[in-house]
Amino acid sequence: MSVVTRVTDLIGETPLFELAVHPVTGTRVFLKLETMNPTGAAKIRMARAMVLDAERRDLLRPGGHIIESTSGNTGLGLAVVARERGYDFTAVVDHHACRSKLNAMRAMGTELVFVAEDGDGNLATSAREELAEKLAIDEGPTAHFPAQHDNLANGIGYHALAEELVADLGRVDILIGAVGTGGSLFGTAEGLRKLDRQTRLVGVEPEGSIAFGGPAHDYWQSGTGTPLGADPGIQVDRDLHLIEESDRVKVSDVDAFAAARVLGAELGLLIGGSSGSAVYAALTRIADYPAGSTVVVMINDDGEKYLDTVFDDEWMNDRDLIDKAREAEIAGLLREYAAAHRPSPADYLVLHHLYSTLPDAYASAHGLTGAALREYADRQVPEAKLIHLLRTAELSPREIGEVLTAGEAGVVEVLERQLRRREEQTAVLAQMITEMKVSRLLDEVTAK
Ligand SMILES: Cc1ncc(COP(=O)(O)O)c(C=O)c1O
Repeated sequence: MSVVTRVTDLIGETPLFELAVHPVTGTRVFLKLETMNPTGAAKIRMARAMVLDAERRDLLRPGGHIIESTSGNTGLGLAVVARERGYDFTAVVDHHACRSKLNAMRAMGTELVFVAEDGDGNLATSAREELAEKLAIDEGPTAHFPAQHDNLANGIGYHALAEELVADLGRVDILIGAVGTGGSLFGTAEGLRKLDRQTRLVGVEPEGSIAFGGPAHDYWQSGTGTPLGADPGIQVDRDLHLIEESDRVKVSDVDAFAAARVLGAELGLLIGGSSGSAVYAALTRIADYPAGSTVVVMINDDGEKYLDTVFDDEWMNDRDLIDKAREAEIAGLLREYAAAHRPSPADYLVLHHLYSTLPDAYASAHGLTGAALREYADRQVPEAKLIHLLRTAELSPREIGEVLTAGEAGVVEVLERQLRRREEQTAVLAQMITEMKVSRLLDEVTAK
């Protein structure tokens, strides 16, 4: 591992966690753990991009003052970047932001300004933005208001994320993410397009949020969505058309938080509520996606920030947000799609031996042309492809054992034997059926 001297050098190269494999279609769901960035969130990518862009455009000079409206994660990212590059930073916030984000910003020397009319814990996105802009205008040229909702550098900050996905997975057929400003989802999608990847986008927003339409009401998911009275901004205006209507998903607080809590309880993985909404969308739709798809879900922030809200039963109960039945359903989906189909050490051993030979063997056994099989195989990352093929070929544990000892050449033999046996069984069965019909016909004729 390399040694770095700036916190921002730790941004990116975040890991992937395989959450689910569909047992029939072979579709795999990966979580892009943006939680592993400094600040535990994706937004630090765009915070850095917005500051660098402002410097390039001479909007921010040495010793300048960044003033931005934030629900927390953008502020955390800007706090780091401001520290590193010698700027003052004022975050305009509301009481909706979780305490740990506010405390962390303070710990990094950020001045917090609360919007005056906010006191009831509700979102105050538009009031925050108006105040941040006013403070910057009043101060004059030393101040800079990045305006994340109207700043295309926001999305550009995620191009590197797309490069990481392509390097790690080769292809991303479906990208699922929560939508607030749209920077993370559309910015990553733009990066994928630059790399010639055709990716279907699935956007998720809280029920009550207005970017995808539908009735507006308060919601408790944090850092995502667009509350009534706010404008989702330039990125959503420009790119929302890239998401098919049927892929614009609204997820309730109850479902989003249930998913986050289940991942914590079942896997020991703590993710935030908006990431929970994206996971919920993925788990409930995996069966509908084309066979062999590679699906990536953006995990935009970590659950540690929500220990006194989403993961606190008292806070949840006070707001009537816990649904144990829903949590059980999600846990059931996780088990159905995960444990049994995750490669076992034995699978990996088989894969190691079979990687180069199995596709051809499978193709010849099933009369697939090489090109059709390769197209199918290319839709999946190598291990999933092979495990899927192994399962499709229905090798028995005994045959897998044989393959393991026989090495690569043995695979073809085992598959061929398997196919011959099946063909023989089919022929015998067909014969039996024919004979049954004939004898029944004869019976009928003689009875007449
Ligand atoms: C908690 C949280 N939810 C959702 C999002 C998506 O927001 P946006 O659309 O503004 O990128 C982010 C962005 O990183 C986030 O931190």
